[in-house]
Amino acid sequence: MNISVIGAGTMGNGIAHVFAQAGFKVNLIDVNAAQLQKALTTIDKNLDRQIAKGSLTTEQKTNTLANITTVNSIANGVKNADLVVEAATENTELKLQIFKQMDENAPEGCILATNTSSISITKIAAVTKRPELVIGMHFMNPVPVMKLVEIINGYATKKEVTETIVALSKQLGKVPCAVNDYPGFIANRILMPMINEAIYSLYEGVAGVEEIDTVMKLGMAHPMGPLQLADFIGLDVCHSILKVLQDGFGNPKYAPCPLLVNMVLAGKLGAKSGEGFYTYSAGSKELVVSESFEK
Ligand SMILES: NC(=O)c1ccc[n+]([C@@H]2O[C@H](COP(=O)([O-])OP(=O)(O)OC[C@H]3O[C@@H](n4cnc5c(N)ncnc54)[C@H](O)[C@@H]3O)[C@@H](O)[C@H]2O)c1
Repeated sequence: MNISVIGAGTMGNGIAHVFAQAGFKVNLIDVNAAQLQKALTTIDKNLDRQIAKGSLTTEQKTNTLANITTVNSIANGVKNADLVVEAATENTELKLQIFKQMDENAPEGCILATNTSSISITKIAAVTKRPELVIGMHFMNPVPVMKLVEIINGYATKKEVTETIVALSKQLGKVPCAVNDYPGFIANRILMPMINEAIYSLYEGVAGVEEIDTVMKLGMAHPMGPLQLADFIGLDVCHSILKVLQDGFGNPKYAPCPLLVNMVLAGKLGAKSGEGFYTYSAGSKELVVSESFEK
């Protein structure tokens, strides 16, 4: 089975990595040549980490890298694919345009999957001539480490396509969970209101950043508190997923907390901007509680 992955960013390099490691031939496609080079370097480093942990041999590393070919055009990259996984930037118009291109250039019968965190699979499928072959394949970050693949059935997705993607996810050593296509699917529909509620608790002065995260870590056995997790996801990403939930369900309970809105407007986007609920020193993941939130 030939796999094509569109987008060589954070998620795309991880998706290419796990397919290649499982023995599939992968075309990794990006419009940005520098990003393709960076993705190969990241995959190389992550494979070395697996070797250091004893979960991979150097021979397996060599074979994994040999399975990956980088390509800079969708038309060339998908023409022999049996499955295309799109992991380009989370922007509806961009994804609709990419899916039209995938549909025009991929062989008949090729399954078209998207790694979108929140955009409707049904909407994406509707711009293709094969909506029954379109499905969500939502990997979690970091892909080589996280076990879950949330599989999202669009309104028209055929049962056989879901079965193929479930089987394929298992072949990657992942645990698939199939869900239906409603705003936020399951992962973000449950995670984002929890993060929003944590931000509301801070906004209303119920507790400080560390107290909120500590309650959830030690009281609920979460590996990371919701405010720290929001920083790692990106506060702009959290904001836009909450808007998808609010608009999709027409329910104000999903409205982003005013503090989250303000932080995004101020450019405090979390780890990637160096400051969110915590501050991050350049190049490190060391946490310092942001002064603006200290009691
Ligand atoms: N980052 C996460 O934690 C996470 C988790 C789950 C799902 N997702 C989803 O995965 C997708 C990718 O997210 P990411 O964090 O990897 O983004 P990213 O910004 O790291 O990477 C996106 C890549 O897409 C490329 N791209 C843009 N337009 C393109 C085009 N026309 N053709 C080919 N490549 C193109 C960009 O050059 C970039 O390399 C999004 O839909 C996002 O919602 C992200």
